[in-house]
Amino acid sequence: MKIKFIFILSLTTTLCVAQQTVNIIPQPVSIQQQSGNFILTGNTAIQYNPQQKGLKKVAKFFNLQLKNTTGFVLPVNTSLPATIQLSIEKLATIGDEGYNMDITSKAVTIKANTTAGIVYGIQSLLQTLPAIRTNAKLEIPCMSITDYPRFKYRGMHLDVSRHFFGPELIKEYIDLIASYKMNVFHWHLVDDQGWRIEIKKYPKLTSVGAWRVDQTDKIWGSRPQAKPDEKPTYGGYYTQEQIKEIIAYAAQRNVTIIPEIELPGHVASAIASYPQLCCKQQQQFPLTGGNYTGMSSNYCAGNDSAFNFLENVLTEVIDLFPSQYIHIGGDEVDKNPWKKCNRCQARIKKEGLKNEEELQSYFIKRIEKFVNSKHKKIIGWDEILEGGLAPEATVMSWRGENGGIEAAKQSHDVIMTPGKPVYFDHYQAGPEGEPIAIGGMNTLKNVYDYEPVPKELNAEEAKHVLGAQANLWTEFITTAEHVEYMILPRMPALAEVVWSPKENRNWNSFNERLQNHFKAYGEKGLHYCPGNFTVNIRPFSQNGKLFVNLSTEILNGEVYYTTDGTEPTLTSNKYSAPVEINSTGLLKASTMQNGRIMGVQAARQSFAMHKGIGKNVIYANPVSRYYMADGSNSLTDGVRGTGTVGKFWHGFSGKDLIATIDLEEAKNIQSLALGCLQNYNDWIFLPQSVKFETSVNGTDFEEVQTVNNLISINEKNAKFDFKTSFPAKTVKFIRVTAKNNICPPGHNGEGKPGWIFADEIIVD
Ligand code: ACM
Ligand code: ZN
Repeated sequence: MKIKFIFILSLTTTLCVAQQTVNIIPQPVSIQQQSGNFILTGNTAIQYNPQQKGLKKVAKFFNLQLKNTTGFVLPVNTSLPATIQLSIEKLATIGDEGYNMDITSKAVTIKANTTAGIVYGIQSLLQTLPAIRTNAKLEIPCMSITDYPRFKYRGMHLDVSRHFFGPELIKEYIDLIASYKMNVFHWHLVDDQGWRIEIKKYPKLTSVGAWRVDQTDKIWGSRPQAKPDEKPTYGGYYTQEQIKEIIAYAAQRNVTIIPEIELPGHVASAIASYPQLCCKQQQQFPLTGGNYTGMSSNYCAGNDSAFNFLENVLTEVIDLFPSQYIHIGGDEVDKNPWKKCNRCQARIKKEGLKNEEELQSYFIKRIEKFVNSKHKKIIGWDEILEGGLAPEATVMSWRGENGGIEAAKQSHDVIMTPGKPVYFDHYQAGPEGEPIAIGGMNTLKNVYDYEPVPKELNAEEAKHVLGAQANLWTEFITTAEHVEYMILPRMPALAEVVWSPKENRNWNSFNERLQNHFKAYGEKGLHYCPGNFTVNIRPFSQNGKLFVNLSTEILNGEVYYTTDGTEPTLTSNKYSAPVEINSTGLLKASTMQNGRIMGVQAARQSFAMHKGIGKNVIYANPVSRYYMADGSNSLTDGVRGTGTVGKFWHGFSGKDLIATIDLEEAKNIQSLALGCLQNYNDWIFLPQSVKFETSVNGTDFEEVQTVNNLISINEKNAKFDFKTSFPAKTVKFIRVTAKNNICPPGHNGEGKPGWIFADEIIVD
């Protein structure tokens, strides 16, 4: 039934290619296309009833958008043969943000319950115009659209602390997100590296806290602490007048701005301005980007004057922003300063708190009480769950979905914004050939496939998921062009996730519609990522055989591959069906588009065929549920781990890896190996040693060899096969014991247990 529905939908949207394709993103609830066109000219009139409040402004907004892209400014409420009619009515089913739009050859009629709905109708109408509009005939296919959103919270975040972006970029960002019917702009105004909002009562927040020593010539993570006499000259902030103007600009586009006033951590900028707010109460170094070692970055939780300061700040913020929500941060608080502070410890004692987690909870609850007293609600990052959730708080789940699940189960509202896949500061392609970005890979398709309601929630709990949001942290992003590049086209993909009915989502249809948006970006001079050309290599087993599936996200892209380690070319194998892997080697695959091999580097995957393939592995200590690779027998699947942590590795935390393979029948073998990974920053270390043993009965084991690790524990990245060779012997069982390491001196986790990551036990 469902499949049929999707088919019908794609008929209405793409089969009408015979007429003109409708490329609206996000996909509307329903489109019925009819024959014929409406032609928009400078002689088309916008008509509305002036008695209907707000429509004058909406018409002005419409004309502004038209002027920017077509040069037309349409006459308003004039009698002309062709009209665009805007009308507020009482309509069932479409809610506060929905609209109905009818397009005939004579008239466009947009009806909605609110001006927000009318604005969304206009956004859809604008998207039906040709992408290239200069000197073009502006034909719009005749159709009827019914449309309304799936989620009421459809957010985009921007960090303006790590780099300051002026009001012009903020308006452009709002325009862009609004054009895809996103309705919340989460403005991250405060962080360690810059305080960006004028607070009249505390002028130093912006005269001191908005500026840092210019180190833009150095990579973010490698910037040194500034010296006391260095001059902070890099930064900026928004005046309250500028903010008011931006709020009004956003409101016209049905975008609510939620300001984030980060607390109690990530506030080195506030502490640099007013040192008495932190536990040490000492003058700080000038601010720098990327490194604030030695600086305090928390408010003192034992000092009432810190709360008094925050209440004064929040009062000005609340007076400025009409939003129902104020985001108070709450993430990544380093509790160490609180552990060493007499005031904080006295607070813990006086309030009967158990520890610093509860002190953080006390902090947030006290702030929430104040915010609630002003008839506003707080949102916090999911760390606010630790030590007990504030009674009315809404949780933003960023460290995966667990925080959101837990909060919804506690009957709190949640906004889903998990690092994977909606942190848009991550790579979307490459990483070869891409601008430097943070961490892993969130491709366009990863975003498109995101489902904001976790299956762990029942129907009642699921109602607490207000929607989803993507976050753009800007450690590595310094220009408007780069901001555009990171959100286009991932933001349109998220827009379809949060707006369109789940059953209307269709990757191929989205990808096709997107091509027209790419043209429009080009026309407008917007920067965007043309796609992830890296082939997705997915190994799988079937009937005891190993295959790979190769796919590309690129529309009409084809995949070419080799299995002999050479670079794929147009004369290599063209992929059409899963490829069987039956020998040890390296597979490389590339995407071909329009007759050219695309991307900077071919995707690659190593395989090891050996006598243990497909055999059962029993672990003495369980594999971490976070690093299960492709299942329990990942160590005998022939698939080697890639350089990145996530794929094809089995992880063991704080325990030895002790794996026994049952070969099912006696086999003649003469070498054994265990493949391991080291990734210092992720606490993954090569084992201290690996012991190989064999047995004929599964009870009595004989040691073959213990191979010691000779690679330094301080090496940042390493892949190593611990290997032993011996005179051939006949065995039925193999036991491998890899000894876990602890984090070395100077490491973040010094003295704590590390991880072992292993990808394959190779039996030959
Ligand atoms: C966050 O990314 N620290 C919320
Ligand atoms: Zn303190």
